Amino acid sequence: MTKKSLSGGTNPDLSMLTLSMAEAQNPFADPLRFERRVPECAIVIFGANGDLTKRKLLPALYQLAADRRLPANFAVLGTSRTQLSDDAFRSKMREEVKQFLESGDFDDDLWSRFAANLHYIAGDMNDPALYQAICAKLSEIGQRNVLFYLSTQPSYYGTAADHIGAAGLGETAPGAWRRIVVEKPFGHDLASAKALNDRLHASFPEEEIYRIDHYLGKETVQNILAFRFGNGIFEPLWNRRYVNHVQITAAEAIGVEGRGAYYQEAGALRDMIQNHLLQVLATVAMEPAAVFEPHAVRDERAKLLRSIKIIQPQEVAKFAVAGQYKGFREEPGVDPTAQTDTFAAVTFYVDNWRWAGVPFFVRSGKKLPKRSTDIAIQFNSAPLKLFGSADGDLSKRPNLLILRIQPEEGISLRFFSKQPGSGMHLRPVSMDFKYGASFGGRTPSAYETLLVDAMVGDATLYTRQDMVEASWRVVEPILENWQSQKFHFPNYDAGTWGPEAANQMLADTGHQWRNS
Ligand code: BG6
Repeated sequence: MTKKSLSGGTNPDLSMLTLSMAEAQNPFADPLRFERRVPECAIVIFGANGDLTKRKLLPALYQLAADRRLPANFAVLGTSRTQLSDDAFRSKMREEVKQFLESGDFDDDLWSRFAANLHYIAGDMNDPALYQAICAKLSEIGQRNVLFYLSTQPSYYGTAADHIGAAGLGETAPGAWRRIVVEKPFGHDLASAKALNDRLHASFPEEEIYRIDHYLGKETVQNILAFRFGNGIFEPLWNRRYVNHVQITAAEAIGVEGRGAYYQEAGALRDMIQNHLLQVLATVAMEPAAVFEPHAVRDERAKLLRSIKIIQPQEVAKFAVAGQYKGFREEPGVDPTAQTDTFAAVTFYVDNWRWAGVPFFVRSGKKLPKRSTDIAIQFNSAPLKLFGSADGDLSKRPNLLILRIQPEEGISLRFFSKQPGSGMHLRPVSMDFKYGASFGGRTPSAYETLLVDAMVGDATLYTRQDMVEASWRVVEPILENWQSQKFHFPNYDAGTWGPEAANQMLADTGHQWRNS
């Protein structure tokens, strides 16, 4: 058998440190494949004076610079309507990065080096002159590889893409690249998502369009793939024979935090479930890809999203619950009669051989008791009650696997154990893995991961046109039904787990939410 050394070269003496050809070809087995070297490039941020830039993008880029992940000439060109000089932009960003840096200390020397390559142009996104100015600035900076980042109000995404195309900014010189990153929300419904895709495609090929879903960049969400497909012991159980049901919860303790105007048009179903939680569901339920490559992984996610059963209009009341917390209508920017869902819970079914009949209960809400995102996979009980009644009782939740996305990132497995003492009394206990304790160190933020991926051209963790459209198809019957009715909102108190109807939805199928 041909063998390859660990360093990748041919090793004629077939020493101990060798891999079989089959192992070497398996991309999971080749660490070099996963090293990220960011090439010389510039990032052009539309909406540079906005919230996302200060809270996430600039802190992530600064952190990458601190970790020596960026090339020396890496440039940032920010643009927005506000008039600012390069220097004013640099000082503003300095204060904001200091404030929003998630980990590590702010280093003045490093900032000075990083800030020397920060530039700013003020302009109106409807004005072709802005794009001419960007073009001129990019030539002056001397970067041919460019990542355009749309972090403006979503209604400007199409406009920006049109103008980038018209100004020739999307065209690549030989050997160079031009890409565009689009923030969420990607459309307001299926029709607007398709229209936006058409406009983007007029200036960029699909391979150069990076639709961001920051949940896919979270370490713990990526780890679902490692957990499922890097181990041999879980996947045989990962199907309708052994899994009773799955619960996916993204709870937030905060309210709308000054984003009332945006949020009242979006609501929890659009804001969290259509994108983040359906991507998480797809990651939990997808088939393994043949190879760990962008197209292969995204094909499997897309296939899973297309397999989610579309809820019929007459079934919406049975499978979906909307809630609104008391006080939402008094938030700044919110209409006092708003029908917005600040809580949504949906029962999804995946119509494929692996999952037919297994409910996936998904919920998300604002002003819930705590911030917590997790996936709970409830396995069936033992088939015989060998030790009395407890071991068949699902409400005691034995054989529950919890993938904790945040906070307290980790994984726990609950199972029955014999309580010490005479007699055979069982009690659920837990085996816990905690990221912090096992790995220590700093975990990169989702934006660090995703920015590097876009710059190296790896779209594995970005959503594709067909995925976005499939997710809209899944939620659209619910949105349409909700738009056509008048809810008796508000229907839950801040600090509770949402409306009673959400509990009833599970009770109707003999289940209950895990609220710990
Ligand atoms: C955003 C939503 O996409 O995700 C916000 O628009 C929400 O409403 C946020 O608060 C949650 O993200 P995270 O990473 O804090 O779970």
